[in-house]
Amino acid sequence: MTEFEALRARISVRAYEKRPLAPEIVSELRAVIDECNSAAGLRFQLVDRNDAKKPAVKLAPAMFAGEVYTCALLVGPGDGPGGELVGYFGEKLILKAVSLGLGTCWVAGTYDRKSVSPEIGEGEKLWAVVPIGYAAAKTPLMQRTIRSRIRAKDRKTEAFVEADHPYPSLPAWVRAGAEAVKAGPSAVNQQPVNVVYREGLVTMRLWREKKNDMMYMDLGIAKYQFQVAADNAGVRGFWNFGESGEFIADN
Ligand SMILES: Cc1cc2nc3c(=O)[nH]c(=O)nc-3n(C[C@H](O)[C@H](O)[C@H](O)COP(=O)(O)O)c2cc1C
Repeated sequence: MTEFEALRARISVRAYEKRPLAPEIVSELRAVIDECNSAAGLRFQLVDRNDAKKPAVKLAPAMFAGEVYTCALLVGPGDGPGGELVGYFGEKLILKAVSLGLGTCWVAGTYDRKSVSPEIGEGEKLWAVVPIGYAAAKTPLMQRTIRSRIRAKDRKTEAFVEADHPYPSLPAWVRAGAEAVKAGPSAVNQQPVNVVYREGLVTMRLWREKKNDMMYMDLGIAKYQFQVAADNAGVRGFWNFGESGEFIADN
């Protein structure tokens, strides 16, 4: 599965089989984590309990079913902008897991904090955990209901874009990027990130009046989603970080 196919296939999985991951899959996940850590000075960590004696993280039973024996702990710089890096590279990890046929979910709140013991350096914090396992073959009704209730609040794709031209006339790769932002995960599905396209430049904006640290993770996630979709639509590029950071297309 390509990264873009993984982006299209991804959903938050809240029901897992009680089955540990194969060691070669765990190695692939570790390799992406090492890549993220060395690219951005992050301290992502992978907990793998392949003896399946106890779960890698205790997820809140009100939201999740089953157990996972592998979990990434996303530790990074403790300030808002650090959250953007965690979001961007965390989404890279999530899409890698999906492309390996695994189920996963961003979890910042609904887990037992005492069930994990991350290494945390000075000025850093644990932003979120990412359980990784096999999605249950049949998603229980409760998990399906949670997702459809949450995603029912979605806005139309056009509403994710602030531009100096009407939406239909924007370049196809910008529209593809905006669709990927809409399809992406965000904390409590707040979808706080808009794509801004003015004078041919792409940036992103946190448009909600009340901001919180979690939204910086959403900003990084949106940037990664946009980049993967733009690439799939023929425009490769990279992002400058920060709220006014531009997308720089290679050409
Ligand atoms: C930063 C972040 C934190 C999240 N924390 C939780 C969480 O604590 N519990 C949970 O069930 N889902 C959590 N989610 C998942 C979102 O609820 C989910 O991404 C959103 O509702 C969209 O649904 P989808 O991912 O299935 O497309 C989180 C997502 C993000 C991006």
